[in-house]
Amino acid sequence: MPCPSRSDELVFFVNGRKVIERNADPEVTLLMRLTGTKYACGRGGCGACTVMVSKRDPTSQEIRHFSVTTCLVPICSLYGAAVTTVEGVGSMKTRLHPVQERIAKSHGTQCGFCTPGMVMSMYTLLRNHPQPSEEQLLEALGGNLCRCTGYRPILASGKTFCLESNGCQQKGTGKCCLDLGENDSSSLGRKSDVSPFALSSPQEYHLTPTRMTENPEKRTLTFHGERVTWISPGTFKDLLELKAKHPEAPLILGNTSLGPAMRSKGCLHPILLSPARISELNVVSKTNDGLTIGAGCSLAQVKDILAERVSELPEEKTQTYRALLKHLKSLASQQIRNMASLGGHIISRHSYSDLNPILAVGNATLNLTSEEGTRRIPLSEHFLAGLASADLKPEEILESVYIPHSQKWEFVSAFRQAQCQQNALPDVNAGMRVLFKEGTDIIEDLSITYGGVGAATVSAHKSCQQLLGRQWDELMLDEACRRLLDEVSLPGWAPGGRVEFKRTLVVSFFFKFYLQVLQELKKLIKPFPNSRRYPEISDRFLSALEDFPGTVPQGVQRYQSVDSHQPLQDPVGRPVMHLSGLKHATGEAEFCDDIPMVDKELCMALVTSTRAYAKIISIDLSEALEIPGVVDVITAKDIPGTNGTEDDKLLAVDEVLCVGQIIFAVVAETDVQAKRAIEKIKITYEELEPIIFTIKDAIKHNSFLCPEKKLEQGNIEEAFEKVDQIVEGEVHVGGQEHFYMETQRVLVIPKTEDKELDIYVSTQDPAHVQKTVSSTLNIPINRITCHVKRVGGGFGGKIGRPAVFGAIAAVGALKTGHPIRLVLDREDDMLITGGRHPLFGKYKVGFMNNGRIKALDIECFINGGCTLDDSELVTEFLILKLENAYKIRNLRFRGRACLTNLPSNTAFRGFGFPQGTLVTESCITAVAAKCGLPPEKIREKNMYRTVDKTIYKQAFNPESLIRCWNECLDASSFHNRRKQVEEFNKKNYWKKRGIAVIPMKFSVGFAATSYHQAAALVHIYTDGSVLVTHGGNELGQGIHTKMLQVASRELKIPMSHLHICETSTAMVPNTIATAASVGADINGKAVQNACQILLKRLEPIIKKNPEGTWEEWIEAAFEQRISLSATGYFRGYKAFMDWEKGEGDPFPYYVYGAACSEVEIDCLTGAHKKIRTDIVMDACCSLNPAIDIGQIEGAFIQGMGLYTTEELKYSPEGVLYSRGPDEYKIPTISDVPEEFNVSLLPSSQTPLTIYSSKGLGESGMFLGSSVFFAITDAVAAARKERDIAEDFTVKSPATPEWVRMACADRFTEMVYICPLPLEPPSHPTPWAIFK
Ligand SMILES: Cc1cc2nc3c(=O)[nH]c(=O)nc-3n(C[C@H](O)[C@H](O)[C@H](O)COP(=O)(O)OP(=O)(O)OC[C@H]3O[C@@H](n4cnc5c(N)ncnc54)[C@H](O)[C@@H]3O)c2cc1C
Ligand code: FES
Ligand code: FES
Repeated sequence: MPCPSRSDELVFFVNGRKVIERNADPEVTLLMRLTGTKYACGRGGCGACTVMVSKRDPTSQEIRHFSVTTCLVPICSLYGAAVTTVEGVGSMKTRLHPVQERIAKSHGTQCGFCTPGMVMSMYTLLRNHPQPSEEQLLEALGGNLCRCTGYRPILASGKTFCLESNGCQQKGTGKCCLDLGENDSSSLGRKSDVSPFALSSPQEYHLTPTRMTENPEKRTLTFHGERVTWISPGTFKDLLELKAKHPEAPLILGNTSLGPAMRSKGCLHPILLSPARISELNVVSKTNDGLTIGAGCSLAQVKDILAERVSELPEEKTQTYRALLKHLKSLASQQIRNMASLGGHIISRHSYSDLNPILAVGNATLNLTSEEGTRRIPLSEHFLAGLASADLKPEEILESVYIPHSQKWEFVSAFRQAQCQQNALPDVNAGMRVLFKEGTDIIEDLSITYGGVGAATVSAHKSCQQLLGRQWDELMLDEACRRLLDEVSLPGWAPGGRVEFKRTLVVSFFFKFYLQVLQELKKLIKPFPNSRRYPEISDRFLSALEDFPGTVPQGVQRYQSVDSHQPLQDPVGRPVMHLSGLKHATGEAEFCDDIPMVDKELCMALVTSTRAYAKIISIDLSEALEIPGVVDVITAKDIPGTNGTEDDKLLAVDEVLCVGQIIFAVVAETDVQAKRAIEKIKITYEELEPIIFTIKDAIKHNSFLCPEKKLEQGNIEEAFEKVDQIVEGEVHVGGQEHFYMETQRVLVIPKTEDKELDIYVSTQDPAHVQKTVSSTLNIPINRITCHVKRVGGGFGGKIGRPAVFGAIAAVGALKTGHPIRLVLDREDDMLITGGRHPLFGKYKVGFMNNGRIKALDIECFINGGCTLDDSELVTEFLILKLENAYKIRNLRFRGRACLTNLPSNTAFRGFGFPQGTLVTESCITAVAAKCGLPPEKIREKNMYRTVDKTIYKQAFNPESLIRCWNECLDASSFHNRRKQVEEFNKKNYWKKRGIAVIPMKFSVGFAATSYHQAAALVHIYTDGSVLVTHGGNELGQGIHTKMLQVASRELKIPMSHLHICETSTAMVPNTIATAASVGADINGKAVQNACQILLKRLEPIIKKNPEGTWEEWIEAAFEQRISLSATGYFRGYKAFMDWEKGEGDPFPYYVYGAACSEVEIDCLTGAHKKIRTDIVMDACCSLNPAIDIGQIEGAFIQGMGLYTTEELKYSPEGVLYSRGPDEYKIPTISDVPEEFNVSLLPSSQTPLTIYSSKGLGESGMFLGSSVFFAITDAVAAARKERDIAEDFTVKSPATPEWVRMACADRFTEMVYICPLPLEPPSHPTPWAIFK
C-alpha cells in the first residue's frame, strides 16, 4: 500500500467546535494544544490533564465517553473524536456546571492546579452514570492527584451526586452533620446549596456531535510530522498489508506504554500504525468454554466484559475472570484503563504487568494474524520472556485473546502489593492456579507466575512440576516455599531494589493462596477423605485471606460559628469559599504557564550535570547548535553580574557538585527543539573525590555545612545517673519531594526601554526573584517587576529556587532580546530542586519506671545536600522545636547539617519539625515499651501542664495543648478503642491493628523580627470598588480570600466591592517570603492598617452623611481631595534567638493540636489501611474555618505521605531514580482515612494576631505521624505475639516493605536462610541508596 507523501486533514471536535489540522504532527499530544488542562507530570500519572473523549465504538457503533490523560494522547489518535475540556463544561462567563460549582463550594480547591482534571474525571463519570455509586466516584478520582486539599472536600463535592449519599452520613446514621446542626458550615456542599444537576441540558450534548463518526471513512489516513509518520488504515486488510510493509513499526493503541518510553527513553519510531478504526480488533465472542476479547479493547472495556461474564456464569467457571477483575480494579487509574488496550498491555510485557501473570496461569492464548494467515500461540512463560520462537513475527499482529473458563476443582487467584493501594505500580504481583484430581486434594496441575521480580513476568514452572501429585497440606506448603525461593531468585542488585521484601512476598503470596484454596476445598469436600491430613485453619489465621477493600471516606468537620450579633456583611470567621474557587473549577484561573505566548517568545531548557562531583573537562555544543530552531546557549560567561554566590552558583563553572546541578541553558524557538538540543550536547568530566551521599558518609568525612547548633538545660549527665532505666536508639527519617502540582516555571519579558524586565513567576518570594535577577544582570532592582497571580502549590519549594530559574531565564532574555519561557518537566523539577532534609537521629533517654522522663539527649544530623540554602536555619528550627509538648528538666539537643553531593535540600512545610519531632516521639514509644505502659500514658505524664518556659526560656501557657489532647482522647473514644484494638489483635494473627494519639506544640513564624514585617496597598476607586494589594502570595492557602475578609470587616463593605489582582513587587516592595505559617497574620495586619487609615480619612464624610452609601462617601471624598489610597504596614512580631546563650523569644505564638489515628496492617504483605483519624486543632478565632480546616487536612495527608509512602531513591552514582508519580508515591484519594474528623478547638484569645486568629499552614503536617505511630503500634503487637524484640529501629516512611520485614515470621526467616545469589564483581553496589 503506497504511503502518500502529503498529510491528510485531521478532523476532530473540541468542545463542540470542529478542528481541522492540515499538518498534524504525530509527536504532538493533545495537552500541548489545550489551555485549561494542566501539565504536571507528562506520564499519565497525575490526572491534571484529564479531559473527556467521545468516540464511536467501531463494533457497536455506540458513542463511548471516557476520561483520558491528554499528555499521552497523540492528536492524530483523535480522528473523528470529540474532546470535552473543562472550558467546554461551563464557565464563569456563561454558566457553571454543577460539578464545577460544587467542587468550589465544597472547598475542594486550594491552589486549583489539579481542579480542572478533577472536574473532568467527575464530569465523565456523571456523563456515563448520572447518579453514580460512591465506589464509582472513588474509582473515577483514583488517578487524580491533589497535593493541597487532602481530597476529603473533593470527595464531599462528588458525593452530592451519588445515589446513596446524603451529605456526610455521619457515623453511619445516614444523616449529614449539616442537618444535625453540629456544623456551622452553611456552604460545605449541602445538596440544597447548589443548583440542580441538569445533565440533559443542551449544554451537555452539543459537546459530542453525533455526526462526528457516523460514517467512518474506510480509507487509510496518513499524517506526516517532522520525524514521525502516523498511518491509520481503515480496514483490517490494509492494516495487515501495512504491517507487512513496515514490520518494525509499532501499533499504537492507548500509547500508555509507547508514549512514556518515547518521552523518557527517547525511543523514536519513524512510522506508527494506528488500528483505532479497525472493528475486528474490538470483537468479543463468548463460547461454551471461554471468552475471546479483541486486542483493541481498552482495559476498562475488558473489565466490563469480564464483570458481565462473571455475573452470567457459575462461580467455578469464572476463577480466572475474577482474578483478572481484582487486578483491573487497582491497575493504574481510570484514565489509563480507558486508554490502554488489552493487546498493548500483553505485548508490552512489562515485568510489572498485572494481567499477564493471571492470563499465563489461566492458559490464555493469543490469536495472531498477518497477511499470511492466522495462528494461535500460548501466552506462556516463553512468550513472556520474549523468546523469538514463542513470540509474534514482526509482520503479525495480535487480533484477540482467548481466555478459557476455569473448571470445577480448579482455583485461580491474583495477588499484588504496591507502595499504596491505588494508582501505583506493583512491587510484586502474582497469578496462581491449581487443579486438583476430582474429589481429592491431590495436585493435578499447578502454575504460578510472578511479576516485578525480574526483567519479565517469571514462571515458577520447575517448582510447580515438582509439586504435582502432592497433597494440599502444610508439608507441601513448606516445600513449595523453599522451591519458589530457589527458583524465583533475585540478585541483591536487581533493578527496583527491595529484594528481601520481594522475596518475602513471593512466599507470602503463596501462603495466602494456600489458605484460600484450603478454604475452598473445605467447602467442596465434606468430610475430607482423610481427616488427619486435613489441616483446620484456626479463625485467628483466617485474617490472612482478607484484602483491604477500597472504602469511601466519611468525616465530620467541626468549628465554632460566629457570634450571632456579627453583622451579616462581616465575613471574618465565616467559611467563605476560596476567591478563585470557581475559576479553578472552570479552568479560567490563569497560572504562570497559561499566559498566552508573547511576541517573539523563545523557550529555555536546562542542561544539568550527570556527575555527582567532578571537574568539567570539555563541552561540545556543535551538534546541539545545528538543530533547527536552536537560537543560543546561555553559560556562566553570559552573566553580566554575579553568578550566585561562591558556594552556590546559578550556573556551574569548571566543577559540578551534584547530579542535577545546572550547567547551562539552551534557548530555542520551541520547547521540543530546546530539549532535543540538550540530548546532543556532549560534556566530559573528570571525577573528583570524596563523593558523599549519605549522612553516615558525611559524618565519617566530617563534611558539614555549618557549625553544630545546641540547646541544653539542667544537668543531663547527673540526671542519667539517677534514673531507673536508660534507652538508646536511632531514628531514620527519609526526605520528601514537594511535588507541588505546578512545576517551577517563569516567563521573563524584556522591555524595550531602560533595561526593564517583567517577570511572571511561580514563587513564594517574588522580592527574592527580583533581587537575584538584579544582581545577576547587574541592573537596579527598580527596573525589575515580578508578578505572581497564583502559585500551583509551593510548600516551601518555591521560596529559594524560583530565583535561580528567574535569573537564568533573565540572562537568556537579556542576551537574546527575546521573552524567555522556562517550564520545568516533572523529571527535571524533581532532579534539580531538592526537598525536605532527610534526618538521622540518635537519642539517649533516662526515665523512672513509672514513665517519668528525667533526661533526654538527642543528636540529629540532616542531609543538606551540596549547598547551604536553608540548611542552617532548618537545623536551628529543628533544635528549637524538638521538645514538642514535653517538659523534661534535663535536656540536650544538638543538630548538624551535612554537606553531601546531592541537590541542595531546602525549606519544606514544617521546616525540620516533622523530621525532628519524630525522634522525640519515638523516644516516648521506646520508654513506653520499657515501662510496659501504653505510649499515651508516657506522653501524658511528661506533657507541659502549667505556664512554663521552653528549653530556650520562652514563656508560654500550655492550656490549649492540654485541651486539644483531652478533646482528642474524648472525640476519638480513645480508651475504648485501645481496648477494641487489643481485642482485635488477640483474635487475628495475620492482621494487626494499631492506635496512637500524638500531641503537638508547633511554633509559627521566623526567629527574627524583620521577617515578620509586611505591607499592603489599598486603593479605593471613584466607583467605590477597592483594589487590595499585599505582600503575600496566593499558594492555594487562601491568603487573598482572608485578606479580603479583613478588608471587608475594616471598611465595613461587602467582599464583592473588593478585588485582588496579583502580588507585584511594583505595588508592594521588599516583601518577605510567604512562609512559616504567618502569611495571613502579618499581611492581614498590614491590610487592616491600610483600611483603618482610609476609614479614618473618610470618617468626617461619614459623620456628615451617616445615612449615605459607600459610593456616595467615596464620591464626596474625591470631591474634597481626600487621598483614597493608603499603604498599610506591620512592623512585625518581636522575635529573636541568642544561640550563644541558648535563650530567646524566637516565636510569636504556638499552635497546639492532637491527632489520633487507627490503622490495620497486613503482616503478610506490609499493606495498611487507615481506619480512622481524629484531629483537634487550636485555631483560636479562625479567620475562615473552611480554609483553615482545608490547611489542616491537606497538611495532615501530606504528612501521612512523608511518614508512610513517599520514598526518594538514589542510584549509587547519586542519580535520583524517583522522578515522577510512578516512582514517587504521594497519597491518593484512596489513602484518606476511612473516617476523618477534624475539629477546631473553641476559641481562646491570642491578642497578638489579627482578630486572634492563628496561622495553620504547616502544623498539621506533623499530625500525620499519628498514622506512623499507629502502624508501629500494630507492628509492635505483631512482634510481641511472635516473641520478637518489641523495640526496633524506627524508620520513616513506614512503607509496606518496612512493615512486612518488621513483622518477621517463618516466611521472612526462609528468605534470610535461603541466600541471595552472590553479587558479581561488576555489580558491587546495591540498586539504590538512601540519602
Ligand atoms: C500511569 C500509568 C500507570 C500504569 N499502571 C499500571 C499498573 O498498575 N499495572 C500494570 O500492569 N500496568 C500499568 N501500566 C501499564 C499499562 O497497563 C500499559 O501501558 C498498557 O496496558 C499498554 O497498552 P496501550 O494500548 O497503551 O499500548 P501502546 O503503548 O499503544 O502499545 C504498546 C506496545 O504494544 C504493541 N501492540 C499494541 N497492540 C498490539 C496488537 N494488537 N498487536 C501487536 N502489537 C500490539 C505496540 O506495537 C507497542 O509496542 C501503567 C501505565 C501508565 C502510563
Ligand atoms: S497525567 Fe498528564 S500531566 Fe500528569
Ligand atoms: S488544589 Fe489540588 S493540587 Fe492544589
